[in-house]
Amino acid sequence: MLLALETSCDETGVALFSEEGFLIKHFLYSQVAIHSPFGGIVPEIASRKQLEVLPSLVRKLLRETYTSLDKIKAIAVTFGPGLIGSLLVGVSFAKALSWSLKVPLIKVDHLEAHLRSIFLEKEVEFPYIGLLVSGGHTALFLVTSWEEYYLLGHTRDDAAGEAFDKIAKLLGLGYPGGPFISFWAKKGNRKAIFFPRPMLEDPNYDFSFSGLKTAVVNFVKNNSSFKLEDICASFEEAIVEVLVEKSLKASKELKIPRIVVSGGVASNFRLREFFFQRAKEEGIEVFFPSPEFCTDNAAMVGIVGWKKWQKKELASLEDEPYARAF
Ligand code: KG4
Ligand code: ZN
Repeated sequence: MLLALETSCDETGVALFSEEGFLIKHFLYSQVAIHSPFGGIVPEIASRKQLEVLPSLVRKLLRETYTSLDKIKAIAVTFGPGLIGSLLVGVSFAKALSWSLKVPLIKVDHLEAHLRSIFLEKEVEFPYIGLLVSGGHTALFLVTSWEEYYLLGHTRDDAAGEAFDKIAKLLGLGYPGGPFISFWAKKGNRKAIFFPRPMLEDPNYDFSFSGLKTAVVNFVKNNSSFKLEDICASFEEAIVEVLVEKSLKASKELKIPRIVVSGGVASNFRLREFFFQRAKEEGIEVFFPSPEFCTDNAAMVGIVGWKKWQKKELASLEDEPYARAF
């Protein structure tokens, strides 16, 4: 069996895969309640908590699947990008286990894992346009095979999830902000306020959300009588429109009629609704993983790790985790 680990940020994920590449079970421990009072992730707390939780979560996984350590034939782990302290916990744990059990260590990139998370539930034809939208990243990729994928563009400042989190904080809502904004947005008027759609018309596949964030900050400062639900709905609409239209632009220009969306923001209700509606109009297929696999998890690490294991693409104990993506 293959054991997969994910500790790149504030979530601890463990997953077990059969030798044939099927997900047997996975567990996720989220630190969200711990970071919530700070309105964002505190890296030092995140790594300490990873260290505390990871060994017991692996033990629980093995116990609940009646698996003894000698059945583990490979270990896949996220090497980056992410918070370096959190990454070090998972990578050091995986290295130690791989060395002591004398089984291969497999290095998985967190962004690639998100991009391929759809395969946990569905077979999607290659090539596809991959939109990754999370708290740490917002990027468009061209995914051509299990071996190759190319970056088309990424955000020049805030990630979309980060923008949701910052605006939620400004409005006095909870953390992480996405689900709170989404909750209020459903009750509001999406056309009440027009916020800018940054870089929508630019001839590239990059994003930028800091200007939009500033527009909302200024609006709130200058308009005390506006309804919270209308601000949330109008802000959400601006982000969603940019994400959808930029992905469709890539799909049309590259003549690739399918898009796969992944990352925490992919659970957003309006993003899904808008995408399905526009994709239908354009004759393009769009796929979303279940919310369980949109957020950080070890199952997506396992699916990429298992493929690498089959191809004998193994890591060495000298390989180091990395914080940055691009
Ligand atoms: O992928 P993820 O769990 O963690 C990483 O950043 O890698 O994504 C977390 C982000 C947060 O910024 C959160 O606000 C956002 O995903 N998010 C949402 C929703 N659920 C989570 N954003 C908008 N709408 C949602 N329903
Ligand atoms: Zn992630």
